[in-house]
Amino acid sequence: MSSSRQAQLNELNKKMLACNKCVLRETCTQVVPGEGSAEAEIMFIGEGPGKDEDKQGLPFVGAAGKFLNEMLGIINLKREDIYIANVVKCRPPANRDPLPEEVETCWPWLEQQINAINPKLIVTLGRHSLERFLPGQKISQAHGKALRRNMPEIGTRTFYALYHPAAALYNGSMREVLISDFKKIPKVVEEVKKSKNEIASNTPGVEPEEDNQESLF
Ligand code: URA
Repeated sequence: MSSSRQAQLNELNKKMLACNKCVLRETCTQVVPGEGSAEAEIMFIGEGPGKDEDKQGLPFVGAAGKFLNEMLGIINLKREDIYIANVVKCRPPANRDPLPEEVETCWPWLEQQINAINPKLIVTLGRHSLERFLPGQKISQAHGKALRRNMPEIGTRTFYALYHPAAALYNGSMREVLISDFKKIPKVVEEVKKSKNEIASNTPGVEPEEDNQESLF
């Protein structure tokens, strides 16, 4: 039986597959909505589909995806345990950066995915994903830190910034940093749960004032 979160995602996926609101749909092969568990505690958000993703209709299935799978293995997670999506659902031509207007046009899909899944932690992969949620943050400073922010469309969320696996794949020092940041994910999720419990037991029904974009843990 499919959960109500899954049902919402199924509905959303149908709508995304029919979307042609921006020019990216004119040149891509197919829309890549996202993949994973509707009940995931952790949602990973990348930049946009590349060549392999465009061909298969699934996110992170190329070289960067293989590296991501390896890192998930290190923290005892499988792809089925998490949810992965991108800030743009259609491949930018020749893998160029998505334009700000393309990211904004695609944002309502991502917003609805986040609200349907309601993850404990959003892990941003790369600078485009970081910029959409925490504008102005530099990835060289924000990586490996948990940051909380309230956004009207998705509420108060905890974000954890990582370097993009594709950028780190062939860069030895960035690769080491990424793996080291990645290993901290389970601890960050535990901290998020603990802080939610404290909020719940200390002041029932009252959300504490949030520190916008401050490092939490
Ligand atoms: N890079 C991304 O940002 N997303 C993918 O789905 C694949 C590669």
